[in-house]
Order: sequence, then structure tokens, then C-alpha cells
Amino acid sequence: MLSACRLDALPRLVDVLSLSPLGVLPEFQRRGIGTRLVADALAGADSRGIPLVFLEGSPHYYGKRGFADATKLGFRPPTLRYPPGAFQVAKLSSYEEWMTGTFVYPDVFWALDCVGLRGERLKAPQPDARV
Ligand SMILES: CC(C)(COP(=O)(O)OP(=O)(O)OC[C@H]1O[C@@H](n2cnc3c(N)ncnc32)[C@H](O)[C@@H]1OP(=O)(O)O)[C@@H](O)C(=O)NCCC(=O)NCCS
Repeated sequence: MLSACRLDALPRLVDVLSLSPLGVLPEFQRRGIGTRLVADALAGADSRGIPLVFLEGSPHYYGKRGFADATKLGFRPPTLRYPPGAFQVAKLSSYEEWMTGTFVYPDVFWALDCVGLRGERLKAPQPDARV
């Protein structure tokens, strides 16, 4: 699912998207469907002129599918409760160099407390288990 979010850049807010959740029924997993869903989501965002798509997920999975470590690219996460490497971004064709800053979720993500991890889930090694 793609959700409307914002990037708090210095000149102005930028409309960006978040890709989350992504799900394939267990009996259909490992057939390339997730890969197609990610590719279609990025193509759809690109065709709408969206410059950036963010997510929290496995670098192992999303790193092969158009995403890169957002912190290393200079973006700031919306929480300190992301596991290392989980904050990721895909830059699309309308991205411009000035578009950097803090990734901001809309209120509903905070109302449902679904940004980042808490408690034991945050402490446990996650990188390949949570995609
Ligand atoms: C993650 C998910 C969407 C992948 O969909 P998929 O159709 O199975 O993925 P693909 O067939 O395109 O890709 C296969 C890759 O996913 C990995 N993979 C598939 N299911 C996985 C799982 N449950 N855990 C970890 N990796 C998984 C495979 O190892 C393979 O890795 P590779 O790229 O190194 O070869 C699917 O496993 C799923 O729905 N998982 C449960 C929900 C979830 O965790 N969603 C992501 C967080 S919102």
C-alpha cells in the first residue's frame, strides 16, 4: 500500500509516498509477486511525479528492488525506533538535489502507533526477518 507522506525539506514540504505494508499470501510467496508489486508501486509513483518513496523494511529485500539506505543518503527518519538499515528510500525521476530533510508520516500512522518498533521487537536482530 502506498500512503501520502511528506518530506520536510528546507525550502518547502515535498509530497512523497510510503510503501507499507507489502504482503503476498503465504501460498503465493517466493514466485516474484512481491518483486512485481514493488516495481509497479515505484512505476506508479514515478508516473505521478512523486520524487521519493520511503519505507521501513529489510535492506536485504528492498535493497535489490530499487531502495537504498536513506540515512546514508542524508535523509532523517521520523523516529529513533527504526532498526539499523531499515529506513530506506527510492529516488524517482522527478527527484531534485534540494529534496532532503526529515521524512514525516501523516497523523494516522502515529494514532495507530505503527511507526518503527518498540520493546523486544526493537532489540531483536530483524534485518532478514522483517521485510
Ligand atoms: C515479503 C513478501 C511481500 C515477499 O513477497 P514474495 O512474492 O514472496 O517475494 P518475491 O518472490 O518477489 O521475492 C523473493 C525474495 O523474498 C524473500 N522472502 C520471501 N518471503 C520472505 C519472508 N517471509 N521473509 C524473508 N524473506 C522472504 C526470498 O528469500 C527472496 O529473497 P531474494 O530476493 O534474496 O531471492 C512476502 O514474503 C510477504 O508477504 N511476507 C509477509 C508480510 C511482510 O513481511 N511484508 C513486508 C513488511 S510490510
